[in-house]
Amino acid sequence: MYVPGEVERVLFTRDQLEERVKQLGEQLTRDYAGKDPLFLCVLRGAVVFFSDLIREVECPMNIDFIRAVSYIGTESGGEVTVDLMKAGDVSGREVVIVEDICDTGRSLVEINKALGAMKPKSLKTVCLLDKPSRRTVEFKPDYTGFVIDDLFVIGSGFDCDGRFRNLPYIGVYHSIEE
Ligand code: IMP
Ligand code: MG
Repeated sequence: MYVPGEVERVLFTRDQLEERVKQLGEQLTRDYAGKDPLFLCVLRGAVVFFSDLIREVECPMNIDFIRAVSYIGTESGGEVTVDLMKAGDVSGREVVIVEDICDTGRSLVEINKALGAMKPKSLKTVCLLDKPSRRTVEFKPDYTGFVIDDLFVIGSGFDCDGRFRNLPYIGVYHSIEE
């Protein structure tokens, strides 16, 4: 297994992730039966989780992609920028936002605000990870994979300055720079 020096320890193995994603998929399959939802992937961090998750949801759906940017290195940078698609795509739909992590909560508050203004029929959020101890604004995901402590993680979509997204597990990051 490829374990770069920046991985202090493995937090969730590929098997653990797969197992939990399967459970979330079963829950979403039950909750969205007969609803024809629109699943929205928040780029880029959620892309691995998203592609695993949608294949576990057994109902008709559409998918699309949005973007939110705030992190610089391991620090959450000031403003959150949200890039959405056309309002017509969301209006009247049962929308499920799929995000990698809820950290300070600011991204998801902004995303929910922006999408909420487009008048979806319903709006729910799925997060693979939740770091509630880091919250600076109030937000609770409707579905959560795992709750974690205040750790900076990499792998399985999670990056540090754009790297490590391809690791097939989630690891705790530590800097190897002097
Ligand atoms: P927010 O602070 O809840 O707005 O989260 C903003 C974004 O920061 C998340 O969508 C992630 O992309 C990123 N992020 C937060 N915590 C971590 C982490 O531990 N590793 C990698 N990215 C993170
Ligand atoms: Mg993100």
